[in-house]
Amino acid sequence: MPDRTRHENHTAWQATVVTLFPEMFPGPLGHSLSGQALESGLWSLDCIALREFGLGRHRQVDDTPAGGGAGMVMRADVIAAAVDQALTKQSTSNLPRIYLSPRGTPLTQLAAKELAAGPGVFLLAGRFEGVDERVLEARDFREISIGDYVLSGGELAAMVLIDACVRLIPGVLGADASLNQESFEGGLLEYPQYTRPRDWEGRPIPEVLLSGDHGRIAQWREMRAREMTKTRRPDLLAPKTGKK
Ligand code: ADE
Repeated sequence: MPDRTRHENHTAWQATVVTLFPEMFPGPLGHSLSGQALESGLWSLDCIALREFGLGRHRQVDDTPAGGGAGMVMRADVIAAAVDQALTKQSTSNLPRIYLSPRGTPLTQLAAKELAAGPGVFLLAGRFEGVDERVLEARDFREISIGDYVLSGGELAAMVLIDACVRLIPGVLGADASLNQESFEGGLLEYPQYTRPRDWEGRPIPEVLLSGDHGRIAQWREMRAREMTKTRRPDLLAPKTGKK
C-alpha cells in the first residue's frame, strides 16, 4: 500500500490548473514516474475549465487589446471568476499562484525544489496575447517562464513545471541517490554515463569507469562535468555577484 501522505500533517502535493484546455491534462503527467505517483496519491491534479466561465452564448473568454494591436487578451473578469471558484476549495487558498508566461522569472531547479517542498501550486495557463494585467495583480499571481522562447499557450509550461516539482516529492523517485548527482546539483551539468556493452561500434567505455577505483571515478566525473559545463553552460560557472 503506498503511503498517501508525504509526512505527518501533510496531504498530497496539489496542482490546480486554470486552463481553456483541461482535456490536455494529465497528458504526459499521467505516464511513467509522475503517472504512478498520481495514481498512488502522492500528488493530485485538479483542472478548472476556463470556458465554463466565458461570457454570452459563445462563452467568450477574450477580447481585443486596449490601445490596439494584434491578437486577443484574456478577460480579467472571466479569469477571476474561474480563479475565485477554484479558491473556494479550502485546500487551494494557501497554494502559491503562478501565471505561466515568457515574461516570468526563469524556472530553475532551485525554484522547483522550493515549490515541491510546499503544499502545491495554483497555475494559470494563458492563451492568445496574454491575460489582462489587472487580474494578475488583484489575485496575486507571480509569473514564471520555462525558457526564453514563446509557446502557443501556458499548458505545456504548466506541465513542465509540475513535472519538475513532482519528481522531487519524497517517495516519487525510488532512489534519492539519483537526485544528488544530476544536472544542476552542485552547480554543474551531469557527467556522461555509460553502460553495457563494454565496446560498442568501436567505442569503449572509458577505462577509469571499469577500474573499480571509486576515488578516481569520482575525480574523473567531476572533471568531465566541469568540462561540459564550461563548453555548454559557462553562465553556470560565472560567479554570481548580484551586480550588473
Ligand atoms: N507561455 C508561452 N511561452 C511560455 C514560456 N516560455 N514559459 C512559460 N509560459 C509560457
